[in-house]
Formats: sequence, structure tokens, C-alpha cells
Amino acid sequence: MSDTCALIVGSGFERLGLEVVTRSPTKTPYGEPSSPVLTVRIGTERVACIARHGEGHAFAPHEINYRANLWALQQRGIRTCIGVNTVGAIADGLLPGDLAVPDQLIDYTSGRVASFGGAGAPVVHAEFAEPFSPVLRGRIAVAIADCGYPPHAGTYGVTQGPRLETAAEINRMHRDGCAMVGMTAMPEAVLARELGVDYAICAVVVNYAAGRRADVGSIDVQIHKFMAAGLERLATVLGRLFDGSRPWAL
Ligand code: HPA
Repeated sequence: MSDTCALIVGSGFERLGLEVVTRSPTKTPYGEPSSPVLTVRIGTERVACIARHGEGHAFAPHEINYRANLWALQQRGIRTCIGVNTVGAIADGLLPGDLAVPDQLIDYTSGRVASFGGAGAPVVHAEFAEPFSPVLRGRIAVAIADCGYPPHAGTYGVTQGPRLETAAEINRMHRDGCAMVGMTAMPEAVLARELGVDYAICAVVVNYAAGRRADVGSIDVQIHKFMAAGLERLATVLGRLFDGSRPWAL
């Protein structure tokens, strides 16, 4: 397992129908991860995978035990991890159904435990100017393009949730330079960094962010409408990424 890339998958991804080969309930010093560490079959590879919200979608974004999730994977020898997250589109040109590989993030969350340090453990000041692994981002973007889809990039704005944003908040995020909005990239990305895990995100755009398009219905309606198209593309891209043709140690 040490030379494989893990996945942390989010909302809706049970619908990818990934075949679960093994499931290992795991305890960590930080409590239990959101789900057992699953081994799923993708393409020709077996991939360690955690369901970020729990297998029955039990955990809201602010309730997820991000530390336990990353720790459980790292303890299994995982050094590379792709987060799969749904997002809303803020940038013009980013459309529901698209896949995007964020290259930056802005953290608008509050009150989440965002470090393994402190509380008696050595304090860590993680280097985070580049919050995502450039090499892994490149691999994901190439796989998206190879599958014939536009490989979008941009800044991921991470909101606290679980409520959706106001139109004014999205306008502010647009002015800040955010291309997309989601609730789960942080603290996942920085915890991966603290553990030395190469981490990047393949985001699935499932709606226009709040207030961007009055003509397309509520966000809930949009997610119902667009999730399937995004997941279909994601399944194709994952098959391409995990086709056994590359070593995962970056
Ligand atoms: N906002 C926040 N998180 C999200 C959204 C959104 O519009 N869509 C999917 N996750």
C-alpha cells in the first residue's frame, strides 16, 4: 500500500459505485476516522479510501474528524492523497458538471482543529504558500485533459457551512479571487501537509454558487440535476489516474 495514492471522497460519491474490497475499522490518537479505511478497486489498482462524511453521510463539514482521517491514512504508509470534493462555481467559465483542480485556497472556516500541534504536542508552522502538491495537481489535470474534459484550476474558498453562502459572501469571495466554493478543503489540506502527505484536490462542480445565476433554480435543485454528470466524468478520470501505469511516490 505504501506506493499507492489514497482517496478521501465526499458527498455523493457513494454513487460512484466503487467496489469495496476490504474495510479496516481504525482507531487513532485523535479518535476514529469518518469511515473505516476502505480498499476500493479502481481501474487496475486497489486504492485506500475514506468516506469523508461517513458511509451514511453522518458528519457535516465542521464535524468531520479531519485529523483522524489523515492520520489513519498516513499510518498505513500513504504518502499521496487525492481529495475529491464537490464545489459551487464562482468564476465565469466554470460550469456545473466540470472538474477542477484548485491551485490555491482561502480559508474562511472558523473553530476547526487545524493542526496536529499544540495542546502539549510540538507547535507546527507548516509551509503553506503552495497549499496543494504541484506535481499531483499536474497529474490530475493531465488525466482530466486526457479524458477530453477542460482541466479548470483556480482558488478554492473554504466556507464553514453547513449552511450555504449568502450572495454577498459569494460576491466577496469573487472579489477575493475565489473560483469555486466548498466546505471541506480545510483543514484537510494543511493536515496532509503536516504529515508529509502530498495532497491535491479533484473538485466536482455541482452548482453555481449562491446568487450567481438566478435562472437555474435553487442550489439543491441544481445539485440533483448536475451531480450525475460530474460523477460520470470523475469516474472516467479516476479510471485514467489509477490505471497502474505510474508509480505514485511523487
Ligand atoms: N457552497 C459550499 N459548498 C458547496 C457548494 C456551494 O455552493 N456546492 C457544493 N459544495
